[in-house]
Amino acid sequence: MNIAVIGTGYVGLVTGVALSEIGHTVTCIDVDPKKIAKLNQGIPTIYEPGLSEMMLNNQQRGRLHFTDQHRVGLADADVVYLAVGTPQRADGSADLQYIEQAALDVAGHIRRSAIIVIKSTVPVGTNLRIKQLMLDHLHPGVTIRIASNPEFLREGSAIHDTFHGDRIIIGTEDKDTASVLESMNKPFGIPVIKTDIASSEMIKYASNAFLATKISFINEIANLCEKLGANVEEVAKGMGLDHRIGSSFLRAGIGYGGSCFPKDTNALVQLAGNHHHDFNLLKSVIEVNNHQRRLLIEKMLGRFGSLTGKKVAVLGLAFKPNTDDLRESPALVLIPELARLGAEIVCYDPIAADQGTKWINVSAQYTENVADALKDADCALIITDWPDIKRMDPKTYGRLMRQAIVFDGRNCYSIPQARAARMEYYSIGRPDVVPEISK
Ligand code: UDX
Repeated sequence: MNIAVIGTGYVGLVTGVALSEIGHTVTCIDVDPKKIAKLNQGIPTIYEPGLSEMMLNNQQRGRLHFTDQHRVGLADADVVYLAVGTPQRADGSADLQYIEQAALDVAGHIRRSAIIVIKSTVPVGTNLRIKQLMLDHLHPGVTIRIASNPEFLREGSAIHDTFHGDRIIIGTEDKDTASVLESMNKPFGIPVIKTDIASSEMIKYASNAFLATKISFINEIANLCEKLGANVEEVAKGMGLDHRIGSSFLRAGIGYGGSCFPKDTNALVQLAGNHHHDFNLLKSVIEVNNHQRRLLIEKMLGRFGSLTGKKVAVLGLAFKPNTDDLRESPALVLIPELARLGAEIVCYDPIAADQGTKWINVSAQYTENVADALKDADCALIITDWPDIKRMDPKTYGRLMRQAIVFDGRNCYSIPQARAARMEYYSIGRPDVVPEISK
C-alpha cells in the first residue's frame, strides 16, 4: 500500500515509521520544513525508545520518506492518515483547527481516490464533519472514504505498544473500507475491532476517561487509607487480583498528567455538556486529580508550618519517567506554588530539566545530578518516579540533606526501606514514617 501521513508529531511519526516497518511505502508530510529537513537526515523530532533505529532502517530501505510538499507526498497515496494535534481550548473542548486545515490541504492536493484515516483524537461526530469539509473542496472526479482509527500509544513505549497493543479499532461507514484497513494492519498481529465511526471515536475517549477514573479512584482510596491506617499498595494488590478489576492503573500518586488524560477527560465533559448530559462522574475524576496534585504541599505545610526560606529539592519534573514531556505534569502546579510560599527551589530531572527552564516561569535552580539537588536541602519532593531516583539508596537523603525529610508523590520506597534509612517519610496512601529523633 502507498500511504501518506499528515503530521510528524508524536502520533504521526510513530504511525508512519510503524507502517513502513510492516512493509508499506509511507510518505510523512508536515508543513514545517525544519522538521522535514531533520527527519530527512534520519533524526527523529521526538524522543521515543526504538524509534530512531526503526526510522533510519526504513528510510535506507526506501520505504519511508518525508516531505513538506503535499502534492509530492499525496501523489500515489491509496490511504491518507490525518495525525495532527487536537489541543485543548481554554474552555476544555478540543481545538480542531489543525485537523480541519490538514483536511483542507489534502482535499486541495489529492488527485486520486483514497481512504482518509483519522488518527487524531477528535470529539464524536468530527470524522463525518471532516469528510463533508473535504467533499466540499475535492477536485472533480476524486472520491474519498473515511475511517476512524484512534491510537492508544503511551509515551515512552509507543513503538512497543504499536506492535503489542491490545486492539486496533477501525470505524467506517462501509464494510469494504474496513476490510482494506484490516488487511493493511494485519502484519501487526493485533486483534482488529471493526465498528461504526461514532463508536470508534467514543472508544478512544471512553478508554482514556476510564483509565483516568481508575487513577482518581485509587487516589481517593489512598487518601482514605491515610486516615484509617491502611496501606494503599496492599489494597491495590488485593483489588487488582480480581480480574474484573485488573491490577494496572491502580498506582496511587500525585495524579495523572501528560498530553492525553487531562485533555481528553475535559473534552469528554465538554462534549457531554454540549449534548445536555452532565457527566458528573468524570467531573469528579478531574476534581480529584486537581486536588491530588496539591496534596504534598499541604503535607509540607503541615510539617513545617511555613515554607519561607526552606530549601526544597524537587526530584523529577516530567509527568512520568522516560519522557522529557512536561505537559500537565504536577510539577507545573507544585513548583510555582512552592515559589509562592517562599521556598528556595532546586530541581533535578535526568532529561526534562531543559523543558523545565522553558515551562516553569519561577526562579528555580536546575542541577545535573540528584546529589547536587539534595545537598543541604530541608526536604525533598519526589514528583517523577525516575528509575535512578527509585534505585537510589534511601540513606543518600540523610547523607546529603540537612534533615532526611522526604515527601514522595510516587511511593518510590517501601515503608521498611524508609524506616531502615531513618528517613522522615511522607508518601501517598501509606503510613507516615517519623523516626524517634524527629518527633
Ligand atoms: C495515555 C494512555 O495510556 C494511552 O493509551 C493514550 O493513547 C495516551 O494517554 P500516556 O499519557 O503516555 O498514555 O501515559 P500513561 O503511562 O498512561 O500515564 C498517564 C499518567 O497517569 C501519568 O502521569 C502517570 O504517572 C499516571 N498514572 C498512571 C498514575 O498516576 N497511576 C497509574 O497507575 C498509572
